[in-house]
Amino acid sequence: MDLEIGSGKGTFLVQQASLEPQVRFLGVEYARAFALYAGDRLRRRGVANARMMHTDGVMLIRFYLPNDFFRQVHLYFPDPWPKKRHHKRRFFQTENLIEVHRVLMDPTPGLPESGRFRVATDHADYFAWMEEHAKQAEHLFERLPYEPPASAGECEVVGTNFERKYREEGRTFHGMILRKRPA
Ligand SMILES: C[S@@+](CC[C@H](N)C(=O)[O-])C[C@H]1O[C@@H](n2cnc3c(N)ncnc32)[C@H](O)[C@@H]1O
Repeated sequence: MDLEIGSGKGTFLVQQASLEPQVRFLGVEYARAFALYAGDRLRRRGVANARMMHTDGVMLIRFYLPNDFFRQVHLYFPDPWPKKRHHKRRFFQTENLIEVHRVLMDPTPGLPESGRFRVATDHADYFAWMEEHAKQAEHLFERLPYEPPASAGECEVVGTNFERKYREEGRTFHGMILRKRPA
């Protein structure tokens, strides 16, 4: 199973789950209107291998999700919380990296995407923060060269709703893939 935190309107789930019907996907979104919209989109498109959950992904990953369970965890265009006093609200931080590491399965031969945490942002300062925190978590994750998911369109980093909307403004996008180091 794959987990996406902050699915927004569910574009990634609709696209990627349709391409991989053998994999189950769980999308988590705490804005109720988006969670309902994404769930309805999956239903209308007949994407039977993906589900939406309306809840806080941080609480979910810290207190409810099992060890060594998800093939991949996806985090696309998380809220950047640009003010310094709000940085502690960023999803990409040490406490959550420890939880992402815990819930990911170990990389498994024959399952090339396994044990991966995939991230994208358009926010240069947040990306620098991510790089710094990834470096501090080198004992947990190995950084891999970024490759878009199979569902991304040409020149897209992921191809979510957010990316498509802001690409028109000329924004730059950054992607990161971290592969779990087995505990
Ligand atoms: C900038 S939007 C990006 C949405 C989508 N990933 C995309 O790329 O189109 C960030 C989304 O993450 C959601 N979000 C932020 N923090 C969250 C959390 N702790 N748990 C679940 N969803 C969260 C927000 O409600 C918002 O829909």
